[in-house]
Amino acid sequence: MFPSFKFFQVTTDAQILSALRSAENGGVSGADLSERLGISRAAIWARIEELRKLGYDIEASPHLGYRLVNDPDVLHADDLVARLGKAKVIGRDIRVFQETTSTNDVVEKLARDGVKEGVVVFAESQSKGRGRLGRKWISTAGKGLWFSVLLRPDLRPQEATQLTVVAATALWRAIHAETGLSAEVKWPNDILLGGKKVAGILTEMSAELDRVKHLILGIGVDVNQAASEFPPDVRKLATSLRAELGKPVLRAELATAILRELDRDYARVCGGHFSDVADEWEERCTTIGQQVTISIGERRIRGRAESLDDDGALLVRTEHGHLERIIGGDVTLEK
Ligand code: BTN
Repeated sequence: MFPSFKFFQVTTDAQILSALRSAENGGVSGADLSERLGISRAAIWARIEELRKLGYDIEASPHLGYRLVNDPDVLHADDLVARLGKAKVIGRDIRVFQETTSTNDVVEKLARDGVKEGVVVFAESQSKGRGRLGRKWISTAGKGLWFSVLLRPDLRPQEATQLTVVAATALWRAIHAETGLSAEVKWPNDILLGGKKVAGILTEMSAELDRVKHLILGIGVDVNQAASEFPPDVRKLATSLRAELGKPVLRAELATAILRELDRDYARVCGGHFSDVADEWEERCTTIGQQVTISIGERRIRGRAESLDDDGALLVRTEHGHLERIIGGDVTLEK
């Protein structure tokens, strides 16, 4: 594992990348950067060399100074911080691993070590990525966004579904803003394009009887796989943004768009405004109004999905006329 850490201060790399991106006349001189950052021109040059090694295409010319010509499709903690700007909670500490078992495991350990909420852990690849209901989550190196967020919300355990709803809404919005694609949300955690899954959310929590101690939002987005890169059995069910859009998506840009939306909606939930997020979720959700079958272990519940309740649970009117409150399980839409 080769973690690159970014805590609360903005690093030199983040400042250099911000300055290069906002350069008005196309470039920034070494002297200007050195003055702004309060370090020598030689130190600036050394950092530029390191950024080049990571794949950032930075040109240097006597007239324009340093110019960022091309962004590599890599995840670099400092770059994510530079793109995100100031975060209220989610994204104020961003860490990137080249490889890990599961980012949820890494965040679980951070949670037990007492790390503050808001830390986000990305991995370029996961050897043991997992999905809901014990399923495996394929996390091909460099092709998607595989990340987890640590939260310590002041919620009761039965309200935790609210945060899955928040994550789904944030994902929908970020995907739409970055690609123009309008996804569907399938309760509680699937984001679909053309009926195929493009992103999923795994919410894991540690709780006492009446309080959530911490909650981990694990998010996986299939971004740049070609359709042929999915195993044949998965290909029928899954897609990527690139496959739908016909061109690749810069993961760092999408990642920061998602974090920005999550941070905004988490603040809404903490401020007692979950119903605003729920209204938006209901607009995007293709499950509402449909005949569904919910599988919870061996149990099957059939009925019509009517709405979300105040805690984010799905209310299903069964064939027998009862209203069932569903907080987990697998939803199949009936044709
Ligand atoms: C699902 O749809 O079943 C949820 C998939 C969640 C996958 C993400 S990838 C990042 C995080 N780490 C994991 O092991 N799983 C989640």
